[in-house]
Amino acid sequence: MSKQGLNRRQALSGAAAAGIGVPLLAACGSDTGEAVDTKPKAESGQLLASTDDVGVGSCVVFPKEQVVLAQPAEGTFTCFSAVCTHQGCLVSTSSSGEIPCTCHGSYFSLEDGSVLKGPATKALSKVEIEVDGDRITVV
Ligand code: FES
Repeated sequence: MSKQGLNRRQALSGAAAAGIGVPLLAACGSDTGEAVDTKPKAESGQLLASTDDVGVGSCVVFPKEQVVLAQPAEGTFTCFSAVCTHQGCLVSTSSSGEIPCTCHGSYFSLEDGSVLKGPATKALSKVEIEVDGDRITVV
């Protein structure tokens, strides 16, 4: 296993141990209704994950890159900004078939990032990825 893969797995397991399923309150915006900057921090060409890192019907948040990677169907991978369009919390890792934001209870589609349940009204912005073998890279 590469050092990078090990670090990613450590980060994922660390995130789970730290209860990343709970709101990242520090990342939340205000109640002023101002536009939320949802631009992810992932860079073009950056190796993001292995296809083994996200299960079918699941999503995994990469907090540093502020992206959420999903596998809505076997072999189909999607990626979005992990910054919730409601007030800017990071969405959460989940295996529930949806992308949850636990700050205020919004849910987004694994397929296209669209809003399944508010209060968010705008879809998560799409992040282009390339899958080459088991490597998932930001385009
Ligand atoms: Fe309010 Fe996500 S920040 S639902």
